[in-house]
Amino acid sequence: MSPTRIIIDTDPGVDDALTILLALASPEILLEALTTVCGNIGIDKTTRNALAMLEFANASHIPVARGCSLPLVTAPGKSGEAVHGASGLGKAVLPEPKSKPVNQHAIDFLIERILAEPRQITLFTIGPMTNLALAIRKEPRIAQALKGLVIMGGAIRSGGNITPQAEFNVHADPHAAHIVFHSGIPITLIPLDVTYKCLLTTADVDRLNRIASPVARFVRDSTAVYMDFYKKYEGFDGCALHDPLTLATIIAPELLTLEEHHVDVDISGGISNGKTFADFMKVSKKPTNMKVALDVRGRDFIELFIERMEKLA
Ligand code: RIB
Ligand code: CA
Repeated sequence: MSPTRIIIDTDPGVDDALTILLALASPEILLEALTTVCGNIGIDKTTRNALAMLEFANASHIPVARGCSLPLVTAPGKSGEAVHGASGLGKAVLPEPKSKPVNQHAIDFLIERILAEPRQITLFTIGPMTNLALAIRKEPRIAQALKGLVIMGGAIRSGGNITPQAEFNVHADPHAAHIVFHSGIPITLIPLDVTYKCLLTTADVDRLNRIASPVARFVRDSTAVYMDFYKKYEGFDGCALHDPLTLATIIAPELLTLEEHHVDVDISGGISNGKTFADFMKVSKKPTNMKVALDVRGRDFIELFIERMEKLA
């Protein structure tokens, strides 16, 4: 079976970086491009980190297009440096990338690539959805031209991780999420409800580092700050592989339990701004607009992640 062709829109970010490695380590996936967005940290660093990750993985042939530096409406959220470190890659130190982004904004890059090959590309958004929202507004035809869209974002029955109600990617640009959720694109949502069940522990990282390799060392060093944050604020030994879990939709769909629902996002600007909610009782009478992952075999996913990192090493 030919690999699934994907583009990842990303704000690297530690778990974004691990997603890039997992995509490159998975024969079921053909990673065609990265587009960057502000999110965990600013656009200069997310773009630099995207280029650096591809060079680290000997994949500099994959193009990177630089995207939006601000959300559509809301002011930039507080920096994610407490979670991802000042560089955005925790304590991992990668050389300054030699490669440069393509000379095209991510919005135009997405429109061009998606329209050039209708229903061939699956887009993964693992940061705020600013680039995709503006691409939809600039060229509405991409909604029908995308093969599919997988979103890391939202919290359905789960509480939030940036406010008590809201998940970071959606909260960072709730208006972008609203545009995307109502675009008609075939969406699969990977919310906190399942990503918090995918905890990479220090024991997993130690196991991976039994055999020394640059990849194993990167996983250890990049997650160091992330682990400290989770220990301090969430009280557990590990870090959630939020973004990497999106790839399970291709490499291990049997691990996910998906349900079709109408999901919306609060953009009223109040205390629950950015909250996502599923109309389980169908009171809105609105058609479903996405598949939502509401359960996952989390440990099986972590084992698969470790196995793929070992192979990549
Ligand atoms: O809420 C988790 C999301 O926020 C992930 O994409 C992580 O990288 C951060 O951006
Ligand atoms: Ca991210």
